[in-house]
Amino acid sequence: MSKTIKKAVIPVAGLGTRFLPASKAIPKEMLPIVDRPIILHIVEEAVAAGVEDVIFVTGRNKHSLEDFFDHNFEQEDSLSKQKKDDLYHLSKKISEMVNVISIRQKSPRGLGHAVLAAKPAVGDEPFVVLLGDEVMFGKPNVTEQLAQVFHHQEVSTIAVMEVPKSDVSKYGIAKIGKTISKHTWHIDDLVEKPKPSEAPSCWALPGRYLFTSDIFKCIEETKPSKNGEIQLTDAMVRLIKKHGLLAHQFTAERYDAGDKLGYMKINFDAALRHPEIGRQFKEYVLERAKTLK
Ligand code: G1P
Repeated sequence: MSKTIKKAVIPVAGLGTRFLPASKAIPKEMLPIVDRPIILHIVEEAVAAGVEDVIFVTGRNKHSLEDFFDHNFEQEDSLSKQKKDDLYHLSKKISEMVNVISIRQKSPRGLGHAVLAAKPAVGDEPFVVLLGDEVMFGKPNVTEQLAQVFHHQEVSTIAVMEVPKSDVSKYGIAKIGKTISKHTWHIDDLVEKPKPSEAPSCWALPGRYLFTSDIFKCIEETKPSKNGEIQLTDAMVRLIKKHGLLAHQFTAERYDAGDKLGYMKINFDAALRHPEIGRQFKEYVLERAKTLK
């Protein structure tokens, strides 16, 4: 089995209802964080970890995601003629960043179903899954950290973070088992969105997974849950029993960009750190804080 990760699966078929009306005609993944769409952050994270092929599990009206990672010759030509070299190179770099493979998820039947749709493009290799609602900043990034654990352990590994007890019902929650090293453990069990009183811990899954191809068989064997969706979490419970699964506590800063408040927080922080507008934005915020009622 290869130990290097070359493929990333990014489920993007969701309708983005939490961002209506902004997401009525453009995918929510194309919404900008200052001047960079959410999807660019997600793909950059994967690329930094060595990924060469990105598999979008996609739906209707998501063509702009493919276009974004392809050349825009008219724009490149115009930037080149105007001698706007920095912008020209920025645009070209994004176009050449990864190979994009698109697979349609023809019905919305859950995250497990979306990951299974990528099977023909993944084959037998280990791969990562990144959920676009979560944006993480850090060096090494979360996907790189999962790849490092996998390189040593050769077992599927997922990212975990501690959340307040009141938030456990928003996430898949892991029951942690034997320690492997300071931030890495075996997982004994997983529960999808438990009530706080029924949660086995406060270790939540923030949407970064590294799987061997064994996960596909486990998804195929997973029955739909009560709402008719095939849960990735249920398939991972099978994976634990058959092949084992590790949890790794990551160090990156994490934002829930799939939620209006989280989206505003990441935009705010990114604007403060932005090389072009950061200083002026900070001045504006400090001034505004004095006068805002
Ligand atoms: C999905 C997963 C859940 C995970 C979460 C992270 O839920 O099912 O286990 O913790 O993503 O964002 P969703 O938020 O899509 O309902």
